Amino acid sequence: MKIQGVSRRSIEIIAGRQTVRILDQTVLPHGLEWRELASLAGVIEAIKTMRVRGAPLIGATAAFGYFFALRDDPGDDLIARAYAELLATRPTAVNLRWALDRIRRVVVPLPPGARAAAAWAEAGAISEEDVRTNQAIGAHGLALLQAAAQRKPPSSGPLQIMTHCNAGWLGCVDWGTAIAPIYQAHDAGLEVHVWVSETRPRGQGASLTAWELGQHNVPHTLVVDNEAGHLAQRGLVDLMIVGADRVTARGDAANKIGTYLKALAARAHHLPFYVALPVSTIDWTITDGIREIPIEQRTSREVTHVVGLAADGQRQEVLISPAGTPARNDGFDVTPGELITGLVTEHGLFGASPEGLAHLAKTLGRTGSETAAT
Ligand code: MRU
Repeated sequence: MKIQGVSRRSIEIIAGRQTVRILDQTVLPHGLEWRELASLAGVIEAIKTMRVRGAPLIGATAAFGYFFALRDDPGDDLIARAYAELLATRPTAVNLRWALDRIRRVVVPLPPGARAAAAWAEAGAISEEDVRTNQAIGAHGLALLQAAAQRKPPSSGPLQIMTHCNAGWLGCVDWGTAIAPIYQAHDAGLEVHVWVSETRPRGQGASLTAWELGQHNVPHTLVVDNEAGHLAQRGLVDLMIVGADRVTARGDAANKIGTYLKALAARAHHLPFYVALPVSTIDWTITDGIREIPIEQRTSREVTHVVGLAADGQRQEVLISPAGTPARNDGFDVTPGELITGLVTEHGLFGASPEGLAHLAKTLGRTGSETAAT
């Protein structure tokens, strides 16, 4: 996608130095800073502090972190230690484990001297595939948006789409998951308008989704998270589409905290609620998302404070509650499959149900034992 008209990716490969460059998402939207990552420690810090975030991008970045570790020491001990350290950075998004497993499967059978080169190639492949995958998600989602637009009464204005958090190109290598269909619809001339919910406490909607939609000139309006029910009730939303951090084998979807409330509002007002994801976001080993998906617990400071641009142009963090107020900060929630109209994947639309996921597994040519393994 483009920044000020120039095509960029959220993670870019610097082939000559065998490093990567990331767009630091903690600085957006008021600053634009690229940061080179060249070590396992640098990658761990970038994921933990959310300089990079979003399930697919976390996976792609972690893959390069694994390469940096193996470049320093390709021995069996480090293969295990780097895997564990990277896996511990963010517990909910399963793409992290998926990417590490993929690299580990490639390097373990190789002699130590061949491991780093193989890891570099595989990390690059994960990044490239993410771009193609999201473009395909966009194409399948575009068909849904076109159909929804056709169902609207004539002259009833743009297709009103609500999203949550950031499931755009900043959360992936490029295109995005839930936002990819919106970009493709906009580019195809379909009139769309996006309700962007701010996504407290980290504000991924306000700071990231609003920024990237603005860069692409997609009409959008920022709302507080609490507007979702009101807008749906007033007939101001035609459909909702969000991303996912982990989807189970029966279609339950973990996504940014607040997603479940939106799904409930969509159900109450008979609105389609889609979850867009690459199949690498499916955790085939679990079924009950509410009981089995680990929910990241984040610092209470994100709830008691807000960060923004002060009048003097400097970033500032301010306290919004009485000092010392206890606060709880679950990073994600789980939307049960029965509230989800469909899963938009790179292979098409599938039901968020055991049958829908079984159909997807069959489409992927997965056997029962593979499905149980990863
Ligand atoms: O905590 P974050 O910002 O990493 O959470 C991201 C989300 O919840 C996204 O909606 C999800 O990863 C889909 S990203 C394309």
